[in-house]
Amino acid sequence: MTNTNKKVLVTGGTGYIGSHTVVELINAGYETVIADNLSNSERFILDRIEQIAGVRPKFYEIDLCDKAKVEDLFNAESDIKAVIHFAAFKAVGESVKEPLKYFRNNNLSLINLLEVMNEKGVNNIVFSSSATVYGQPDVLPATEATPFQKALSAYGSTKQMGEEILEKVSSATIIKSIALRYFNPVGAHKSALIGELPVGVPNNLMPFVTQTGIGKREMLTIFGDDYSTPDGTCIRDYIHVVDLAKAHVKACERLIAEKAESNYEVFNLGTGKGTSVLEIVNAFEKVTGQKLNYKIGPRREGDVESLYAETKLANEKLGWKAELGLEEMLSSAWAWEVKLHEGTVEV
Ligand code: NAD
Ligand code: UD1
Repeated sequence: MTNTNKKVLVTGGTGYIGSHTVVELINAGYETVIADNLSNSERFILDRIEQIAGVRPKFYEIDLCDKAKVEDLFNAESDIKAVIHFAAFKAVGESVKEPLKYFRNNNLSLINLLEVMNEKGVNNIVFSSSATVYGQPDVLPATEATPFQKALSAYGSTKQMGEEILEKVSSATIIKSIALRYFNPVGAHKSALIGELPVGVPNNLMPFVTQTGIGKREMLTIFGDDYSTPDGTCIRDYIHVVDLAKAHVKACERLIAEKAESNYEVFNLGTGKGTSVLEIVNAFEKVTGQKLNYKIGPRREGDVESLYAETKLANEKLGWKAELGLEEMLSSAWAWEVKLHEGTVEV
């Protein structure tokens, strides 16, 4: 049963993390409204969400950079209780080459939303930030108090600026916000009906691994094995996208129930466990029974050696803890890749 007292607007809701979050919101009894311009997602995801959750979210195909369209949406959906703002461009390399595209899209969409929310009296917003704000911290695990380092890409800048905008706006207006810093989201829904849809050659490790496993890519290159880590390869905190999605439901609940301890809060979302690239490769082979071709290549520019989260704050304050392990991350990512390969996903 949906509770109309719990209507949530999900921007970027047909995207990778957004679609999984819409499913979890519906499962938790929320009414969902999606705003997405389909610049990096497909309309059929709405069918898939309906197949999984039994409810079709309302959909507005709009560009959030168009403020008039955002106003129209809020006029039509008068009782929105919270906004989860996923919509953004996220290709790190592209953002280095085309910084203005990223500053315009990621910052303007956030500013438009905040202005309209203020005008319409909608005060709760959850923002997609990233562990990239930390760069390489001096001390690990990274806590929410770990200082930012200068962003190496325009994408990273937009996440730091997004947090900055929210902090300032939340101290001066009706807005109350929670920024969630994701570590490395991977995996797919257990139905294998939704998952990540990378465009072109993936930059991220997990889609590259599964695409190599299925034979779409010849070989994975491990970017460097001479780091000061136990096996020489980089360490990250991989987190299952369904766990991540559930954290957004908790964040919405916290804002709507007015349980937040300040107008602007930040939480790390990770497992707290670091995994090396070689460990991912070995675990992939074990979990899927699929041999993975790989070679060791040079380091990738801009990569940090090791990054994983302190998750105590999210555990204690949000009442959220990652539950799914590496095995579920890899098996669900693989099941999704197999479905893509079989052509049962219309991309
Ligand atoms: P995604 O590209 O799959 O989803 C983003 C969605 O936003 C897409 O459906 C796209 O069409 C839409 N969109 C983009 N600009 C828009 C605009 N101006 N108006 C309307 N819709 C627009 O990305 P994702 O992986 O689901 O990421 C969601 C959020 O999480 C992003 O803000 C991203 O920066 C952040 N994030 C992602 C990761 C990751 O590894 N996937 C890590 C940290 C943070
Ligand atoms: C990257 C981005 C980061 C962004 C995050 C989530 C860079 C420098 N960083 O982080 O800003 O927030 O994605 O989208 O782009 N690896 C390989 N071979 C590959 C691909 C990756 O060895 O083909 C290694 C990388 O060196 C890294 C690890 O796998 O050590 C994870 O890489 P990736 O999935 O790209 O995530 P991040 O580098 O953590």
